[in-house]
Amino acid sequence: MSQLPQTIRWNSGELYFLDQTLLPHKVVEEKQETVEQVWDSIRQLKVRGAPAIGVAGAYGLLLAIQDKTGLHKNRFNELIKAKAEYLDSARPTAVNLKWALDRMLECAKSFSGDDSKELFKYLEDEAIRIHNEDEKLCLDIGKYGVSLIKKDMGVMTHCNAGALATTGIGTATAPMYLAHRKKISFRVYSSETRPLLQGARLTSWELQQSGLDVTLLTDNMAAHIMSQGLIDLVITGTDRVAANGDVANKIGTHGLAIMARHFEIPFYVACPYSTIDFKTKQGNDILIEQRETEEVTNFGLQRTAPENMKAQNPAFDVTPNDLVTGLITDKGIIGPPYKENLQNKYL
Ligand code: MRU
Repeated sequence: MSQLPQTIRWNSGELYFLDQTLLPHKVVEEKQETVEQVWDSIRQLKVRGAPAIGVAGAYGLLLAIQDKTGLHKNRFNELIKAKAEYLDSARPTAVNLKWALDRMLECAKSFSGDDSKELFKYLEDEAIRIHNEDEKLCLDIGKYGVSLIKKDMGVMTHCNAGALATTGIGTATAPMYLAHRKKISFRVYSSETRPLLQGARLTSWELQQSGLDVTLLTDNMAAHIMSQGLIDLVITGTDRVAANGDVANKIGTHGLAIMARHFEIPFYVACPYSTIDFKTKQGNDILIEQRETEEVTNFGLQRTAPENMKAQNPAFDVTPNDLVTGLITDKGIIGPPYKENLQNKYL
């Protein structure tokens, strides 16, 4: 799997993101010069996917403070807090961004020295740990999830919960990459994911690059393809799992889960522990990002709707836990009742 794209690179104080808005036509890394640029890159989806924006946030915070180590430790700590809050405001739904920034703040709190330069180094080590851990969490998800993929199955996924959404082998795609590595032959169906086409531009690209058998569908083909008996399993990612097991993920996931229930197809959601939010009791409490309506009234740069057309653009939806067959996590596959089983595994 050496050909998998590297989404984020921190190189001795320099931060680079693979610009995912240009994929699949151009594979270009963009250097991030300022924390404002990092905020924009997260907001514009140059770097995207829940685990990846967590790692991006941690490094973004380093970028914001690295030339301010001349400040007294108290002033330096105030700056760290303010910049973490700023970065967290870039996107609201994926909890991983807040999780990673909170972890950086906890790390800063635990520093007992007085030297801001040393505190910076301490935080840099933590950001690198968050990054390395993400890669390992993806592998662990894959090791548990691979048991679900059997020879000749059709596996459907939505949006991109792949290598491009993480710094490893993805979450929903991790079982797929490991099954492929074990030479199990199976088909993947990737839904294109209107309005920003993460399925068409990103998932189908990265799976194809790695030699998997992937077929692209428009979102409205899902029920028909399921009715043809082509799908045996659905695996998606998630941006936030509430304490009761409700899952927020890319808009359209809820509909797929309803269809999967209708056709009696198992519906799994893959996630690392950093996506589970015990502070959010249920899915209704999750803030859904509302994006610019031009993403809906236009197709790429081309306007497709009449001028002055009203449109909605919620970026995510919430799938109630009763439609979820299981959560494929870094600690194993967790089934219902989610509230109890998640607590038993993680708290
Ligand atoms: O808006 P995006 O592209 O950041 O949305 C991404 C998703 O919805 C993914 O499925 C989710 O972040 C899980 S990533 C492993």
